[in-house]
Amino acid sequence: MRASQARLVKVAVLGAGGGIGQPLSLLLKHSKDVTQLNVYDVHGAPGVAADLSHICTPSKVQGYGPEELAKAVSGVDLVLIPAGVPRKPGMTRDDLFNTNASIVRDLSAAVAKSSPKAIIGVISNPVNSTVPIAAETLKKAGVYDPRKLFGITTLDIVRARTFVAEALKKSPSDIDVPVIGGHSGETIVPLLSKFSELSEEQVKALTHRIQFGGDEVVKAKAGAGSATLSMAYAAFEFAGHVIRALNGEKGVTLCTYVESKAEPSCAFFSSPVELGKDGVEKILPLPKRNSYEDALLVKCVEGLQGNIKKGIAFGTK
Ligand code: NAD
Ligand code: LMR
Repeated sequence: MRASQARLVKVAVLGAGGGIGQPLSLLLKHSKDVTQLNVYDVHGAPGVAADLSHICTPSKVQGYGPEELAKAVSGVDLVLIPAGVPRKPGMTRDDLFNTNASIVRDLSAAVAKSSPKAIIGVISNPVNSTVPIAAETLKKAGVYDPRKLFGITTLDIVRARTFVAEALKKSPSDIDVPVIGGHSGETIVPLLSKFSELSEEQVKALTHRIQFGGDEVVKAKAGAGSATLSMAYAAFEFAGHVIRALNGEKGVTLCTYVESKAEPSCAFFSSPVELGKDGVEKILPLPKRNSYEDALLVKCVEGLQGNIKKGIAFGTK
């Protein structure tokens, strides 16, 4: 049930001038739950803010340029981070590590200083590693609260719902697919066994498409980047869940990448999580799996462990 006294939420988007940042900021500007939207980027944030500020919704928008990061994140409830470079064809998400690791570290350090209680959603890839980097950065600043740091893996769920709905000729709104693990290739584990109508071949094809859906977009954009519009939609979905929980709604759950013991061999893992006023309220047990999904999980863990280790090593340097 929605709480009757909904609290309006202040949100900062870091990387707001980019392919994800702009449509995500547009969706947030349109949201009736957002009272203040701070858009920050090293390029172009004042222009994005001026543009958004003419939209006739009640929220206020403020743009912040490179010297104004502290102000951009000060006093906000939720920080969404899509800052960093996207893939080009032939690249893996891990190929982005060298550029994006320090961007996420520096932005997390600024949040730690100016808004230590804010909830952070990291979009910048490789998410499997950038979330551990943010965690170590927040630890160094003495403000790490694992309930408040998330890797946004919602696009995998959005894709899974779309592709499964197409296969079953149903509406995506009637389809709920748990997607666990991480956010890249074989670390993405969609659990499709609940759909008994799907044949073995369909499950294999859908699993592959969900795991490698990002590549489809990278290929189609042919050097112009990766998913931006579907990612903005997914990040807005994520933000909506967080905001509903901040406003006191009970039973808000989604699969998201957090510090976790759900899969004991990975310190960070995406699994169903119940949200509350302080972020993660409860990490729910992994959904039931069949032997095919267990085999996927084994592969996931192999890759994810290395990604997490790499992130922690960078974050603790
Ligand atoms: P983009 O290049 O269009 O935009 C990135 C923006 O970040 C640019 O405006 C740039 O100026 C800004 N930026 C760079 N360094 C910054 C810094 N230090 N502080 C603030 N802003 C900074 O890229 P995009 O398509 O928006 O993708 C952004 C990131 O999101 C990429 O790393 C991409 O791989 C990732 N991504 C993740 C998911 C996911 O599912 N989690 C999905 C799609 C893309
Ligand atoms: C995605 O899944 O679309 C993103 O992680 C971007 C990418 O590099 O594929």
